[in-house]
Amino acid sequence: MSESKIAPIPNHVAIIMDGNGRWAEQRGLPRVAGHRAGTENIRQVIRCLAEHGVHYITLFAFSTENWNRPASEVKGLFRILGRAIDRETNIFHEHGVRLFLLGRVDRLSDRLQRKVKHAIELTKDNTDMTLSVAFDYGGRAEILDAVKRIIQDGIPPQDIDESLLNSYLYTAGLPDPDLIIRTGGEMRLSNFLLWQSAYSEYYATPTFWPDFGSEEIERALVAYAQRERRFGGLEAQRETGPRPQG
Ligand code: IPE
Ligand code: IPE
Ligand code: MG
Repeated sequence: MSESKIAPIPNHVAIIMDGNGRWAEQRGLPRVAGHRAGTENIRQVIRCLAEHGVHYITLFAFSTENWNRPASEVKGLFRILGRAIDRETNIFHEHGVRLFLLGRVDRLSDRLQRKVKHAIELTKDNTDMTLSVAFDYGGRAEILDAVKRIIQDGIPPQDIDESLLNSYLYTAGLPDPDLIIRTGGEMRLSNFLLWQSAYSEYYATPTFWPDFGSEEIERALVAYAQRERRFGGLEAQRETGPRPQG
């Protein structure tokens, strides 16, 4: 499927889509206009990554800490998610994309929860690509939720290893991200995929998310291709990941 001249290509790219607000403020627009522009940008980013042969994409759209923003902005972000699902679900389905939502889900409105469930159910057998949207997602909340459910299920301590914990995370069944891209210039994870990013490669760019286009994506992929991943050992490894402990 990959037509890419860049190699190796990350199997899973996760993106912290930051800088929408500043993009809007620079233009004298309300922050929500930045979120709309950012959402518009998603389609072409996915297309470009797919053309390069990336199979898993995860997008950080709303963090558990983003509830601390003014209610009007939070409402705007929820409305944008609902509209994006309405508009894009069938298109993704036609392109063989499986959709996932990573996050709490229960704090979304009933209507939005129904939309999310429908999109996941409709696309569940698609195999060309998996697109996960992290919404009301926090890495710490995810780990806490997993621990609570492990205890509720009465799992004995000797059975708790990395693969068991993995299977209790929102990301169960997804490979760990190989490359994490952050737009908007900050050099931090902001509670994104804390457990899963243990050996991810990082790429940060000052470009605001609505302006992050194909050229920038290729720059990130080239940077990734030049990294030597050792996973704690002494030799470079390809496509494998750290040896599980426990
Ligand atoms: C990222 O853009 C989107 C969300 C966090 C929802 P921001 O809204 O954080 O934009 P900046 O960082 O304020 O520019
Ligand atoms: C991270 O961006 C969350 C998303 C992109 C959804 P933030 O703008 O919330 O992160 P901080 O507050 O700068 O760390
Ligand atoms: Mg931000």
